Amino acid sequence: MDVNIVLLARETKSYSMSVINSSRLLVLTITTTVVIVAVLAATINRGLPISKDDTESTGLVWEPPDTSQIPHTDEGLLIRYGRDLIVNTSWYLGPKGKVAKITNGMNCQNCHLDAGTRTWGNNYGGVFSTYPKYRERSGTIENIYKRVNDCIDRSLNGHIIDTSGREMQAMAAYINWVGQKIPKNVKPTGAGIRDLSFIDRPADPAKGQNVFIQKCQRCHGANGSGTLLFDSSGYLYPPLWGDNSYNTGAGLYRIGRFAGFVRDNMPFDAPHNSEPLTDEQAWDVAAFVNSQPRPQKDYGKDYPNIAGKPVDHPFGPFIDGFSEEQHKYGPFKAISLARKK
Ligand code: HEC
Ligand code: HEC
Repeated sequence: MDVNIVLLARETKSYSMSVINSSRLLVLTITTTVVIVAVLAATINRGLPISKDDTESTGLVWEPPDTSQIPHTDEGLLIRYGRDLIVNTSWYLGPKGKVAKITNGMNCQNCHLDAGTRTWGNNYGGVFSTYPKYRERSGTIENIYKRVNDCIDRSLNGHIIDTSGREMQAMAAYINWVGQKIPKNVKPTGAGIRDLSFIDRPADPAKGQNVFIQKCQRCHGANGSGTLLFDSSGYLYPPLWGDNSYNTGAGLYRIGRFAGFVRDNMPFDAPHNSEPLTDEQAWDVAAFVNSQPRPQKDYGKDYPNIAGKPVDHPFGPFIDGFSEEQHKYGPFKAISLARKK
């Protein structure tokens, strides 16, 4: 169905640009109806919005670019270096990094699958088209450098890098290249992480522990600390909690983001070798993992506009009267509805 939406969306555009006679008008009407129905169906699937700064999706569907098309020019060299930094971050910037020793040993790709190109795999498809943009978390207009440094600071629990240095320039060049074909201000369906529908009860860490034991532990380890590569230059299976994992200010520490990511992408060998998760399993395992110990940093300055906190941001104060506990585990529907009034 996804492929059809792309084709139909393109058709519609070319028709509207040519002179429309009556038979074309009929086709146009049918095509438009199909597109609208498809877009509506996709929208309903997405559930209630989790945060305000999620850009609205349009009918455009994300298609991963072919990295063999990166040009063989100086610019292309920079783009390739950026891709390599995203795939092998730890090699360059990890505890034994060749360029600097400033991050926790994880790679950007551990969370931005296929170097940030996989559909619903937290890809960079909507970055070039939507940045610079206002983000509630900082209360400022952020450019790509700021956003990348946010992930270095929080997800890689590291030290931010110089924006004019070759490493930042390379990562930004690559991220821009990934999304270069997406029109300005559009975030295609399939870019980033999917918003799961809320469940009617709080996400349950005890149930989540069972999911973890059955479906995650064989790779991520009984104590969630992952498995290092033989030369310790990075991880074969990245950690889910503990000293080398993302810190409490990271995006995955919000259980809606974690659940959305793992629902579509974990177990890593699904659907070939193992069953994908249900939505409920995804919410519960998110609650379990984000109840385990991990590095803490003080992000007391986040969300200067308190009303802009996503429903699953677990740190008060809140304007809506719900507890920190409910903002961490849910149920979120009540919070979301209360805010709409
Ligand atoms: C522990 C997981 C994790 C790691 C490691 C990580 N990120 Fe992220 N990143 C996220 C999450 C979660 C988001 C927020 C996605 C969302 O809210 O839709 C994000 C968002 C981003 C965005 C903005 C995407 C958008 O569409 O607005 C960029 C750019 C980004 N990361 C770059 C990087 C880079 C570069 C690295 C490595 C230096 C990195 N990230 C490492 C989890 C991670
Ligand atoms: C077959 C092995 C395997 C299984 C099973 C598996 N994972 Fe993963 N997981 C991986 C690999 C490999 C990566 C990194 C992907 C990459 O770098 O391309 C990853 C990455 C992740 C990440 C982002 C990086 C991080 O460490 O924070 C999360 C979160 C995650 N897995 C959660 C889960 C959960 C929850 C389960 C169980 C429902 C699970 N995984 C099951 C192999 C697995």
